[in-house]
Amino acid sequence: MQTLFYNIKEIVGTHNPLQALRGVALSHLPNITNGYLLCNNGLITEVGSCTSEAFASANASATATNVTNIQKIDCTGQTLLPCWADSHTHLVYAGSREGEFVQKLQGDTYAQIAASGGGILSTARQVQVATEEVLLTQAYSRLQQVIAQGTGAIEIKSGYGLTIQDELKMLRVIAALKAISPIPIVATCLAAHAIPLAYKHNSQGYVELLIKELLPQVAQQKLAAFIDVFCDTGFYTVAQLLQLIIAAKNYGIQAKIHTNQLSSIGGLQAAIAHGALSVDHVETMTEDDIVTIGKSNTIGTLLPTAAYFLRMQQAPAWDMLEANAALALASDYNPGSSPSGNMNIVVSMACITLKMLPAEAVNAATINGAFAMGLQHKVGSIAAGKLANFILTKPIPNINYLPYSFGSNHIHSVYINGQLFNKNS
Ligand code: NIG
Ligand code: FE
Repeated sequence: MQTLFYNIKEIVGTHNPLQALRGVALSHLPNITNGYLLCNNGLITEVGSCTSEAFASANASATATNVTNIQKIDCTGQTLLPCWADSHTHLVYAGSREGEFVQKLQGDTYAQIAASGGGILSTARQVQVATEEVLLTQAYSRLQQVIAQGTGAIEIKSGYGLTIQDELKMLRVIAALKAISPIPIVATCLAAHAIPLAYKHNSQGYVELLIKELLPQVAQQKLAAFIDVFCDTGFYTVAQLLQLIIAAKNYGIQAKIHTNQLSSIGGLQAAIAHGALSVDHVETMTEDDIVTIGKSNTIGTLLPTAAYFLRMQQAPAWDMLEANAALALASDYNPGSSPSGNMNIVVSMACITLKMLPAEAVNAATINGAFAMGLQHKVGSIAAGKLANFILTKPIPNINYLPYSFGSNHIHSVYINGQLFNKNS
């Protein structure tokens, strides 16, 4: 089945770069005004201007009297942009942590909350007792919700299992979700997320167990494309990060690392030196951290809703761009630090709090997000050959209006694999 979308006021993100956009290039967001898009079997087959000969010919075939397999959709007044590529989430979890949220409002510190059984370990307890069916049902409903909000590809981490069997359980749930998901999902093994209680005084023992028992199974069962480690003060050390990255590399599993959220301890340098695809959070950055990321091919993934929710400093986006870094934006959807997977809010917040330009934020949340998942050939921009996963907006003056008018839903409809996923009134 072919679909011809035409009279599109503006098609945004009509590029197909070979590498993640870095430095000033992040502000270049190519567009086509009065455009059309032709989709066939879930893929974009043509993109261009409605004044072109190619459009005349596509339109002629779509309107020929005996044609029944081409649908025509008039998009007058609408803007079309690629779906968000959310490259950092913890979408599989059980329970919620609004109690902890209120405790913090009443003045409890993170340490007090952790001491009273809160934080990552409290979600881990709930995940450990949940069945795969329950985890899958809840994750599926969150997935449906974020797709309706415009997400067209997503990365999902384990990390609330914190035992060999429960990490494998989480990864199997992600695999099951992937099998029924209309959008691409990539799985990341984040078994080194927090230090399990049983290893409170022996985190090295847990790291060795992961290397000896978990990674071989993850690799053998192809349960994860990436490995992640929370390398920060109070969590995993740089030495442990290196052990895990190197062990995973032996199985061909690349790294995407949580680092520089609370402090700068050298995790960023270690991850970059070992070819990490991305370093994520990067809120606490020294001059050396900024120079190092700017010179590297590793993508800095910024998570502005997490820093906002935790009332922590935001990542120095401008300094990193000035240093020529490649930046992506992601939701960090999780019950503790970002209980929202709404990428429209992430893009808005990136402009409001990180002072990114709308074009930079859109690129960071689409094409660079795709690169940060290794999915750049499939999603992230409006180009022939990619999945027809895109957003059609309600009438808006221009793309800057999306982050500017925050909190309103400007999405008219979301198309996944060329088919209508949902429509807002
Ligand atoms: O990315 N920083 C580490 N992990 C998560 C928080 C997870 C949680 O609190 O449940 C994050 O913010
Ligand atoms: Fe995270």
